[in-house]
Amino acid sequence: MQKVLITGGAGYIGSMLSTKLLDLGYHVTVIDLLKYDKGSLNHLYFYKNFELIREDVRKKDLIKKLIRKFDFIIPLAALVGAPLCQKFKNDAISTNFGTIKTLCKLATKKNKIIYLTTNSGYGIGEKNKFCDENSPLNPISLYGRTKCDGEDLVRLKVKNYVCFRLATVFGHSYRMRSDLLVNNFVYTALKKKKLTLFEPHFRRNFIHVRDVANAIIFTMKNFNKLKNNVYNLGLSSANISKIILAKKIKKHYKKLKIQIVKNRKDPDKRDYFVSNKKIEKKGFKANISLDEGISELIQVFKNDKNKVVNNY
Ligand SMILES: NC(=O)c1ccc[n+]([C@@H]2O[C@H](COP(=O)([O-])OP(=O)(O)OC[C@H]3O[C@@H](n4cnc5c(N)ncnc54)[C@H](O)[C@@H]3O)[C@@H](O)[C@H]2O)c1
Repeated sequence: MQKVLITGGAGYIGSMLSTKLLDLGYHVTVIDLLKYDKGSLNHLYFYKNFELIREDVRKKDLIKKLIRKFDFIIPLAALVGAPLCQKFKNDAISTNFGTIKTLCKLATKKNKIIYLTTNSGYGIGEKNKFCDENSPLNPISLYGRTKCDGEDLVRLKVKNYVCFRLATVFGHSYRMRSDLLVNNFVYTALKKKKLTLFEPHFRRNFIHVRDVANAIIFTMKNFNKLKNNVYNLGLSSANISKIILAKKIKKHYKKLKIQIVKNRKDPDKRDYFVSNKKIEKKGFKANISLDEGISELIQVFKNDKNKVVNNY
């Protein structure tokens, strides 16, 4: 079976992806410092074809020693999100960009790299824009810039790659993030019974964390068909505004009150529709709905207080 290296494999996306890959019989090696949830991979130590290397992915010698063994490399290790990167600027640059630079230098033709970045730079300053992969990415945060620079480098230097520009991810994973918009709205709705919205008509695209893992597995199985390209990755039916999202949550949680605050700006300037047609034409379509995710999240936050975790 093919061998997969996932850096940051204990994280929100990585722990879901590692689980699904092991279920399918792949050999999975994770490099992760376990910065957040120390138990997100506990259910995987059982597998003989699983290994955790609890190390800093910035160690070049470690990557050099390992890289030749792997068919697929999925570099997820990063400081994720604008506030965290703003707080730890040097670590953000060395982790999010530095490690991709090392990987690009060391990767051989054998290594197939699947790189994820954020689509959060789309639409900034271009109101009402429908974005496809040719739309310019103009990230305003250090986080967005390190991720976009990483994508540029992968596209320039790597022989075999696929890049995904992700919508905002939602849903439960083994390492939880409650800072992501849908997750945060559901958590706040349950805790305060009230959601306060600024600029409620700002739109975004969303995708369930299981669909992200499914897209990566689809890519591994159809690599030659997809390779050396960049794709938007989101749920096409979930190009919606914050107010529509809040109303969807209210349908599941009737006690919720939605309050709109006028004359107050949302510091997150995102407001755009994203086209996911390019990846859909290749045969992958995200299909886990927001309703399924909201109903799942309500159960998680109601029953497990340990699942409320932020990065900062
Ligand atoms: N979740 C999203 O909405 C989203 C959207 C677009 C792109 N992405 C990208 O997907 C990737 C994973 O995101 P996530 O949401 O799973 O984040 P996460 O914070 O849950 O996971 C990151 C993981 O990286 C590990 N890590 C950080 N620095 C490390 C280091 N120096 N050495 C070893 N391990 C280290 C952490 O311990 C953590 O387990 C990131 O590259 C992120 O930019 C995520």
